[in-house]
Amino acid sequence: MKQSHRFNAVMLCALLAMGMTSVVYADAVTTLQDEYRAAGAGPFSASAGEKAWTTAHKDAEGGPDRNCQTCHGTDLTKAGKHQRTGKAIDPLAPSANKERLTDVKFIEKWFTRNCKWTVGRECTAQEKGDFLEYLKGL
Ligand code: HEC
Repeated sequence: MKQSHRFNAVMLCALLAMGMTSVVYADAVTTLQDEYRAAGAGPFSASAGEKAWTTAHKDAEGGPDRNCQTCHGTDLTKAGKHQRTGKAIDPLAPSANKERLTDVKFIEKWFTRNCKWTVGRECTAQEKGDFLEYLKGL
């Protein structure tokens, strides 16, 4: 009897821990997509996000065309390489790197920087929602 109570307690803890990690993961993406929806965007599409991810943009200074793969690479489960600094960038796919897409501020900060550098302007709420829809499934 005592034994099975202990077993139940252990199982309960394991289940709670599993539930909590998935909530943390879902939270940042859900929070942001809810914000974008409140701003009038949506529904979000993984295939639109994938397409935008690889769409080439002209460099205003006449350098090579840019897209999101320029630094993150063609396989998001593998490390990328920063186009200017040459520094390695950890894989972006949450399946390969569970810290990805877990921090609202971090995601927004890098959307702002990367969209400006790659697209030449900030991304719209629709574009960001689509990128997240694509990335979260990887
Ligand atoms: C000039 C290089 C570069 C390009 C091009 C680039 N990124 Fe990034 N990106 C980075 C760096 C550096 C980081 C932050 C370091 C890290 O997360 O490992 C980052 C991080 C991110 C993150 C944060 C993910 C997380 O939760 O950890 C997102 C989202 C992202 N990039 C999206 C994009 C999108 C969308 C594009 C195309 C519009 C893009 N990036 C193009 C360099 C780049």
